[in-house]
Amino acid sequence: MSESDYYSYLRQIHELYGDEIFVTFPETMQTYSLSDFENEINACEKCSLGKTRTKFVFGVGNPQSPIVFVGEAPGKDEDLQGEPFVGRAGKLLDKIFAAINLSREDVYICNVLKCRPPQNRDPLPSEIELCEPYLLRQLEIIQPGLIVALGRIAAHTLLKIKDRMMDMRKQTYIYHGIPMKVTYHPSALLRNPSFKKPAWEDFKEILAVYNQILSERSTNG
Ligand code: URA
Repeated sequence: MSESDYYSYLRQIHELYGDEIFVTFPETMQTYSLSDFENEINACEKCSLGKTRTKFVFGVGNPQSPIVFVGEAPGKDEDLQGEPFVGRAGKLLDKIFAAINLSREDVYICNVLKCRPPQNRDPLPSEIELCEPYLLRQLEIIQPGLIVALGRIAAHTLLKIKDRMMDMRKQTYIYHGIPMKVTYHPSALLRNPSFKKPAWEDFKEILAVYNQILSERSTNG
């Protein structure tokens, strides 16, 4: 809004309400942003990973994205750079996004655990218990229309199930009120190229949902 628009807006408000003016708070005062949350938690030492990590890996991408991708935990490269999926698996993920005309700026990417487990071991139940509330808060702020769990471990961890990938990827689950799909972890695609075909089917479906959510959001304002 230009300065003159702003004054004419204020004049209209004054005509309507006299000297009693109701103002809305500027957006920055109204909303608690993802970066506010990141600043609040990025020195976390609730579990031992807080002492062994190099960098806290909060998440990256568009805070208004319709879709949030959730991996398992940062690896070596992510721990060094403070950003999820920047190593070999991350490069493949970027290529998959590019193949469906998306980039990491269109989506939001984070992990169940925000700190790297030593030697990339699986997350411990106690670590998940302490870290999952951070993911839930991120989702509360972003309000995505779809979550995509990347890999068996992320899916098992979030959904508290032990099903096989080939079964999970055919389902749509609900995670804390939000629809959740499951697909292969990009590391699994690097290890086993025969998973690339079903993963490609999954990502085409994910793109369709992404476009559907965007169009619903634009119709509903
Ligand atoms: N694997 C994950 O699950 N997350 C990352 O950020 C990197 C590799």
